[in-house]
Amino acid sequence: MAKIYNWGIIGLGKIAHKFAQDIQVIKNARIHAVASRSMAKAKEFGAQYNAPHCFGSYEALMDCPDLDVVYIATPHVYHCEHTILCLKNKIPVLCEKPFAINAAEVRKMISAASTNKTFLMEALWTRFLPTTLKVLELIESGAIGEVQTVKADFGFKATFDSKSRLFDQSLGGGSLLDVGIYPVFLSLLILGKPSTVKAIASIGKSNVDESCGMLMKYPHNKMAILHSSVVNKTATEAFIYGSMGTIRINTRWHEPTSITLLQEGKEPKDFFFDFDSNGYRYEAEEVQRCLAANQLMSNLMSHNFSLDLIELLDEIRMIAGIQYPDQDKNNQLNPKKSDSNFSLN
Ligand SMILES: NC(=O)c1ccc[n+]([C@@H]2O[C@H](COP(=O)([O-])OP(=O)(O)OC[C@H]3O[C@@H](n4cnc5c(N)ncnc54)[C@H](OP(=O)(O)O)[C@@H]3O)[C@@H](O)[C@H]2O)c1
Repeated sequence: MAKIYNWGIIGLGKIAHKFAQDIQVIKNARIHAVASRSMAKAKEFGAQYNAPHCFGSYEALMDCPDLDVVYIATPHVYHCEHTILCLKNKIPVLCEKPFAINAAEVRKMISAASTNKTFLMEALWTRFLPTTLKVLELIESGAIGEVQTVKADFGFKATFDSKSRLFDQSLGGGSLLDVGIYPVFLSLLILGKPSTVKAIASIGKSNVDESCGMLMKYPHNKMAILHSSVVNKTATEAFIYGSMGTIRINTRWHEPTSITLLQEGKEPKDFFFDFDSNGYRYEAEEVQRCLAANQLMSNLMSHNFSLDLIELLDEIRMIAGIQYPDQDKNNQLNPKKSDSNFSLN
């Protein structure tokens, strides 16, 4: 009989609900335990998804029997602490994006996974979507020739609330780490690490970046043009321009149900994908596949990729002046490529 994977969840907010809904569509997965800072909230959430174990603290979840893996869905600033809590207890972890606030924290998480020989993966769900796999397949097949430019944006208009996760600096608020991470991820996936980074941010009244614009240059004259915002609704499209054509990942491109191939001299060709879920099932299934194969990390979202991603985000932050003083005081930023005198130390 196929193993059923028992999932636990830490932090029962908005995304935890969407993820729990998706666990229910995976045949060999179930919500086994949920942990909140409030027992009443844990019980209410647990009842919604038939979780047999509900805990009123994250620490209490560590003693839960028969737990296979924990999904961490707390605000960014707690990802490192909650991941390490699980790893020290040898509980595999799928942790929400951004993996942590900065590279110093991500290194600690990776080190804890290695010391405890326990699985760890960043929940950058777009990486696992069938649309992303199709984009990579089209590029690999030469459908658009040599890739030259990636252009992507992700912006939405949030209601300002200085105490909310999106605008509170002490919770890791701001557009770059919340949504800008998606365009940055796409550029890294397709073009690799840039040789030059330029970035500017508009810092709002709560000291977080409300918008961020990024330009990157790569060897062989390749470039990326990226933008994020939590104060403007943007097209949220991605374009991959090649020497012989373009792939457009249609809006909202981080969760698309279609992509369009535009080749010179040919009719545009659409590829449609029907999701039977919110789209989070694919990352959860990747975790289960890795656990079944006794892997300590995913090949699709490796520790090195996550480290490259957060280092790039650190670099953008340093150049654009986006700061998280409590966490950054322990982060040694690598100044090698930055063209700014701004320092987070
Ligand atoms: N992959 C995606 O599509 C996606 C989408 C949205 C968000 N995310 C990521 O998921 C994480 C959570 O986002 P969310 O939108 O679900 O946030 P949210 O609705 O605010 O929920 C976060 C949860 O974290 C817990 N928490 C612990 N300490 C907290 C504190 N000091 N303040 C507020 N909450 C605290 C709370 O759960 P308890 O009260 O139960 O303890 C809260 O419900 C973020 O890192 C975000 O980047 C990913």
